[in-house]
Parts: sequence; C-alpha cells; structure tokens
Amino acid sequence: MKTTHNLLEGTVSTRRPPHTSENGRGGEEFADESKTRKHMSIAIRITNYLTRTGYLWPILVSAFVVVIIYSLVSRSLDFVPASSSSGISRLFFPVDAVESDFGALGVPWYILRLLVQLIASAEIIRQCCKSKHGKTVEWTPKDLLLGLEEFVSIYETRPIKNNMYGMGFDHSFGLWFITRWMKPDLMIESGAFKGHSTWVLRQAMPDTPILSITPRHPEKYLKKGPAYVDGNCTYFAGKDFVDFGSMDWERVLGKHGIQDPTRVLVFFDDHQNELKRLKQAVKAGFKHLVFEDNYDTGTGDHYSLRQICDQPYIRGGGHSCFRDSDEARIRYRRRKFWEKAVDTDELCGPGEAWWGVRGYMRDDFNHSNKAITYDEHFQNSRFVESVLDVYWEVPPVAGPSLTHQTRYEPARAPSPIVKDGRFALFQRLGLTRFEPSVFNGYTQMVYVQVSELET
Ligand SMILES: C[S@@+](CC[C@H](N)C(=O)[O-])C[C@H]1O[C@@H](n2cnc3c(N)ncnc32)[C@H](O)[C@@H]1O
Repeated sequence: MKTTHNLLEGTVSTRRPPHTSENGRGGEEFADESKTRKHMSIAIRITNYLTRTGYLWPILVSAFVVVIIYSLVSRSLDFVPASSSSGISRLFFPVDAVESDFGALGVPWYILRLLVQLIASAEIIRQCCKSKHGKTVEWTPKDLLLGLEEFVSIYETRPIKNNMYGMGFDHSFGLWFITRWMKPDLMIESGAFKGHSTWVLRQAMPDTPILSITPRHPEKYLKKGPAYVDGNCTYFAGKDFVDFGSMDWERVLGKHGIQDPTRVLVFFDDHQNELKRLKQAVKAGFKHLVFEDNYDTGTGDHYSLRQICDQPYIRGGGHSCFRDSDEARIRYRRRKFWEKAVDTDELCGPGEAWWGVRGYMRDDFNHSNKAITYDEHFQNSRFVESVLDVYWEVPPVAGPSLTHQTRYEPARAPSPIVKDGRFALFQRLGLTRFEPSVFNGYTQMVYVQVSELET
C-alpha cells in the first residue's frame, strides 16, 4: 500500500529547463531541449501540461472515481468476471492477470495501466548516457529472465552470505549475466573487498584467469569470517597493490598471454571517479567495462557515469534547483519513502549547482572532492558520449513491492526484470527464499562498451 502510494507519488514531477543564463551557454540548451521535446509522447505532453496548469490531480481523481463506479456497476450487472487477485499493487499492476484481461475490480487491466502510465509519464524521468550510434546490448528481457532462473541456485551457494558493503543479489546477477554472455579471455576487477565479486566472476567463467586489484588481500578477511580467495586469480593486493591507473597494462596483459585487450572484461567496484577510470580504460585499449556503483545524481561517494550524463540536453536529464518548485516538493515527499531520494538542498549547491553532489566531482570514497564548473561537467558528458558504443544499466531483479526494498529510487531506475505484482513469478524463481536485505544494494550498475577509436 505504502509502496504503491509512493510509486504514484514518485511519478508526478516535471523536469524544468535549466537556467540557461546562469550556466552561460545561452540558447544552445534550449535548442537541444526543444529537440528532446519533439520526441515526447502525447501522454507526457498532456500530463506535463496538466501538471503545469494544476489540473492533473483533479482529473486523475475524477478518472479514478469513474473507474470505481464503472467497476461496481459492471460487477453488479455481472458483465465481466472479477479476478481473484487482491491488494492494491495487484490492482494497479495486474500483470498476474495476463491470463485474463480483467483486474481486481473487474476493469480491463489496460485501462488501469493506462491510468498509471498517465501518472508515470510525469515522473522525474531517468536519463541515460547516449551511445554514439544508438547501439544497444544483444540480450533481451527474456534472456535476462532465463538467466535469473539459473542464477538463483548459484547465488544460494555463495560463500559470503552477508556481504554488507559489497554487492547484493541484483548486481551479482548483472555481473554474472554480462560476463557469461561476453565470455572474455581475461577478467579484471578493481575493488574486491572479501572476494564476493571474484566469486561471481568465477561462477560465470570457471576456467578464465582473473586479475584482482585491491589494497587489502581478501585472505586477510578469512581470519574474521567468510571470504573468497580464488585459485586462478593474480592478486595485486597488499604490498603488490598497484592502482588500475598506474598499471603497465601492456606488460601485464602480455604476461597473461593476452594480445587483444578488447577481449578483456574490466569490473570496477573501487569507488573511484568513473570519468577517471573510463579514461584510463580507454587509454589501455579496454572495451568492455562494468561500473558497479553508478550512483544517481545527488547520491554516492564518487562521480559516476549516470551523474555525468544527467544533462538537460539528454532526455530526462537536468534538475531544477528552485526551492519553490514542484520538483523540490516532490523530492521532499519522496525522501520519506526512498532512502536514495534526495532533497533539492542536498542536490544543489551555491549558484544552483546540481551536477555531481552540490557541484563536486567526488572521488576515492569521498576522500577527494573537486569542485567543477558546469562547463567542465558538460564537457565531461560530451567526452563520455564520444567514446560510448553501448550504455546499458542492469535492471533491478524485481519490483520494490516484491523485494521490500526502499533504498533505490524506482522512478530513477530501469524497469525491473520481475515487475511489481508478479508475485507468482517471483516465488517460482525462488526469490522468496532470500532475505530482503540481499536486494538492498542496487545502484544502477552499468555495462559500457567503448567504441573503436575513430581515425
Ligand atoms: C565496495 S568494496 C568492493 C566490494 C566487492 N566488489 C564485492 O562485491 O564484495 C570496495 C573495495 O575497493 C577497494 N579499494 C579502495 N581503493 C581502491 C583502489 N584504488 N583500487 C582498487 N580497489 C580499491 C576497497 O579496499 C574495497 O575492498
């Protein structure tokens, strides 16, 4: 109930155009903004208009009342079969009713869904980094579902049951799935902690060598509890630690018999500025990268790709720093429900700086923070776009009403693999066997494919 209410609430915000005069880029952004507006669906346009004019809620409430009356009348006349589904989430997300076209109130579910979509279309739309030629991944939602079916029983055998501060279920699945799909010749991870991600990589590729870069060797954790040390992994840890950016990659890859760096998968979970990591990876010739903590704007302890791409010229990007705005009010309300929802005050710094966190480019677990100008931030996004062939955010495995999580913001994440309301599927996959806490670590993990260098 609370979740559904919040889902609805989380949807009624509008994006404001940036204050162009303040960032000094004149009409350029408006030009881009208008370009994105051309692609807005009619529902978005109508909802935005209604939100602006203040008619949205009266119309939605009236529509809801009409739906209820229609449902009661049609039920009493026995015109349509009433579904056995119950609960508010099933009412609004009656995907379980795929066998029948009718939801809990006996109303065709697509009418209800349309209503929800109308509200959802006014959400703080999540933005994505744009890839150069609009390329996307090869796998489909069905492939993800099949993978999930397989991965549940693998995850049950994990050596580190409580991986607080490390990956939970969603990202473990994402990393396993991507790795298995790609079948790299070598896997590199930066940031291993107790070794859970090393274990995930090993499950995906049983015989492929791993290089693990992490200041503290995972074996050190063994004294205190469960940890994972891999037999086919070279550790750059302890006194052998060398930061990813300082590694002589030509020599190291050569030593491991790798001629082609594009056949390597690099996994970053080291909480470093992702722009810095991306540039280092591009320089070394790596092509397949996964960033574990792809923090949303206003959250996290390092500058992430998602933050870099949160730009007004990218659809769904950019923020309003007006304290007296719809966005500010909605953000404030959402804070009560979603832990990662951020207040305008937390997001915006002096001069209405919303990029990064209050205009800072965070690095190294928040230990090094550099204030950046809007122009630098904008140039960073241009650079990222210029090297991206694919940008794909791993979706949450299941909707928040199924996983009972409140940590990530559903309005700012891709649609889950198992959608809210599909409890039967959630149960069939075996996901009910896990503690809800394993679903708490979702931070928009992203798979990135670097494009061929253009000459
Ligand atoms: C969030 S933990 C990694 C969790 C791990 N991947 C997992 O799933 O369990 C971050 C790790 O990054 C390590 N780290 C810190 N600075 C680093 C650096 N410059 N390069 C690589 N790892 C670093 C930390 O010591 C810590 O082990």
